[in-house]
Amino acid sequence: MAQQQENGRINGFSKLGKAERRQWLLDTFLPDQSAGDFCYFDAASEDLQRVLDNFSENTVANFPLPFGVAPNVVVNGRTYAVPMVIEESSVVAAASSSAKYWSTRGGFQTEVIASEKLGQLHFRWSGRPGRRAALLPALERRLRDASSGLTARMEARGGGLRGMQWKHLPEVHPQCYQLLVRFGTADSMGANFINTVLEAYAGELERWAASSDALQADEREVEVIMAILSNHTPNCAVRAAVSCPIEKMNIPGSGVDAADFVRRFQLAVEIARQDPYRAVTHNKGIMNGIDAVVLATGNDFRAVEAAAHAFAAEDGQYRSLSRCRVVDEVFHFELTVPLALGTVGGLTRLHPLASLSLDLLGRPGAEELMGIAAATGLAQNFAALRSLVTTGIQRGHMKMHLQNILASLEASVPERRQTTEFFAGRTVSHHGVRQYLEKLRGVEMKKSADELR
Ligand code: MEV
Repeated sequence: MAQQQENGRINGFSKLGKAERRQWLLDTFLPDQSAGDFCYFDAASEDLQRVLDNFSENTVANFPLPFGVAPNVVVNGRTYAVPMVIEESSVVAAASSSAKYWSTRGGFQTEVIASEKLGQLHFRWSGRPGRRAALLPALERRLRDASSGLTARMEARGGGLRGMQWKHLPEVHPQCYQLLVRFGTADSMGANFINTVLEAYAGELERWAASSDALQADEREVEVIMAILSNHTPNCAVRAAVSCPIEKMNIPGSGVDAADFVRRFQLAVEIARQDPYRAVTHNKGIMNGIDAVVLATGNDFRAVEAAAHAFAAEDGQYRSLSRCRVVDEVFHFELTVPLALGTVGGLTRLHPLASLSLDLLGRPGAEELMGIAAATGLAQNFAALRSLVTTGIQRGHMKMHLQNILASLEASVPERRQTTEFFAGRTVSHHGVRQYLEKLRGVEMKKSADELR
């Protein structure tokens, strides 16, 4: 049974039912709210609610995010309507507009460079580092055999163990070692598979140390520290690229000609390659596109983010993930990014909207999805830079911002139309929009709690 304590603490919160959890939160932290503030977001179907509740722990509500679509994304000659889950306004609009622009200029070309995942088994060992080369082949055979029951199905799908290295980490401790294991995980992201196999290796490593005839008495001490996949996946990477003769790179309404646009664009990318402060923002824009696809397809965006940023700092300095060059009057823009994605397993089938997203994309394999996500990231990056080096980013943002303000002030359709016309070319602010609406309505409007704060 849960025990309420002083100072907002509680024992056994997870044991409470959902209604009790909500009530405890209301009583303890939310005196002005009611259970309705949580219930409002409940799924209409009990089955769906059960599915969602099973994804996580201590659940008290659902947290909806917009699910949008960027149509006209042409990747390797095939046209996709790309599902995107993101809360930031303008991102889907930017991806859509960029995708449409490139759809008439050859579309995106993508290529999976490699699709290998890594796992690590760390341990302390009493042997000498120089003995590893002699011992590894037999140890590897033994680990392979011990995990054959776990890897058989993955091997049938084209994945499985691809090899291993035995590393010494003297900078951590003179007896610290790592087995760095390479895996293929076919169409799954593979985290569960890799972790399960590594934990089996850990047990077998201990048995090997205790029983192998190849080891001498002073080589038998093994202490497993940890076994876990690595989210650093530089060998599971994809390249997305666009190219077009400069003369066809016109940007209507931008006020700059094609050659000038390309010159400014190229400089903007080079700034992000050389300056980490700009590179982080630049890459954030790329991840706006990639994360939205990763989320929509039920993949792990934290893993993708961590891997992308490690990759961006590969040579010791954080740099832009995309590159731009002009060769013989042709503009080339490309993005290389590690993307450990799956189209089977995990949430990809369990979350009904992730499954629908994959249906929308024609049930791609993992490598095809890597290409689609990378193309969306490049589309996003192109759109951001196109605005930044021409009109500035705020013009597009403010259009969306205005619509959000109008929604929060419950503007009617005619009020929206009139206000949008009025603010075209004017600076948008919450206060300004409120004042304009008050004038239209001829009444002073009550301020919300947020506005009064
Ligand atoms: C905003 O979410 C993303 C941008 O800042 C990206 C960029 O500056 O390249 C617009």
